[in-house]
Amino acid sequence: MRPADKDGAAVVHSAAVKVEGVSKSYSVRDGDDVLALDRVDLDIAPGSFVAVVGPSGCGKSTLLSLLAGLTPLSSGRLTIDGQDVTKPHPKAGVVFQSDLLLYWRSILDNVLLPIEIKKLDRAAYVDRARDLLDQVGLQGFDGKFPFELSGGMRQRAAICRALIQEPGLLLMDEPFGALDALTREQMIMDLQTMWLRLRNTVLFITHGIDEAVFLADRVIVMSPRPGRVDLDLTIDIPRPRRWSGVHESASFQHYVREVREIFEAKGVLVAH
Ligand SMILES: Nc1ncnc2c1ncn2[C@@H]1O[C@H](COP(=O)(O)OP(=O)(O)OP(=O)(O)O)[C@@H](O)[C@H]1O
Ligand SMILES: [Mg+2]
Repeated sequence: MRPADKDGAAVVHSAAVKVEGVSKSYSVRDGDDVLALDRVDLDIAPGSFVAVVGPSGCGKSTLLSLLAGLTPLSSGRLTIDGQDVTKPHPKAGVVFQSDLLLYWRSILDNVLLPIEIKKLDRAAYVDRARDLLDQVGLQGFDGKFPFELSGGMRQRAAICRALIQEPGLLLMDEPFGALDALTREQMIMDLQTMWLRLRNTVLFITHGIDEAVFLADRVIVMSPRPGRVDLDLTIDIPRPRRWSGVHESASFQHYVREVREIFEAKGVLVAH
């Protein structure tokens, strides 16, 4: 069973993330190295929800991959709870830009993959995996294979896989980018509900200014490549945030405008 506090809320040990002067360049076979990130600083308090927005190619997935321990950095320092990130952190759950489900495993077996990798007791997590699938509207699909699901359904299964252990750090790379508008709205609301219950640390990467402002405590705006932090905006909108109330509010529109203005100033968006 998941530990619970006296109000029945889950107790997750949320992670602190520190990114200090991190640069990343990729060597390219026939040409100059590509500098993807240039001296990025980011300090994320445990239990906060931070969204990163930036134009295509500015290094958002690179930043996530560094934090996930999947790519080595070129310079600077990256820590989770004070420990240098050199390999995937046991506390981190990752949702990638594409679902990356294993086609030969059923949906249930895909969701349980992190449990098997960590050699935990699989049977103890089966009910939880089914609950998660139910919560995202995938009841009855546990025995199906990825090819039998739509793109949006596969992405929802991938989110369940990241949540199976209620990670203290949830790294999400444009998780809703491929979803239709209705499913996306539902997933945004569900993510807020999950986070209000767990209060884990979330780093949420997106192209969508509106979903960043709606979900996050802080929105980090990155410059075009090489990615740097252009703006660190605190979003002061009370929670729980309701979809239409918030989207219609003056403060929400003000924050969205602030981010757009940065993109316009950088030529990422043309004002019209
Ligand atoms: N493995 C790699 N080898 C060489 N260059 C890479 C590699 N991965 C990323 N890049 C380059 O680094 C830059 C940043 O890529 P990244 O995928 O981090 O951008 P992004 O902000 O996630 O873009 P998008 O919004 O389109 O997903 C791009 O110029 C990309 O071409
Ligand atoms: Mg990306």
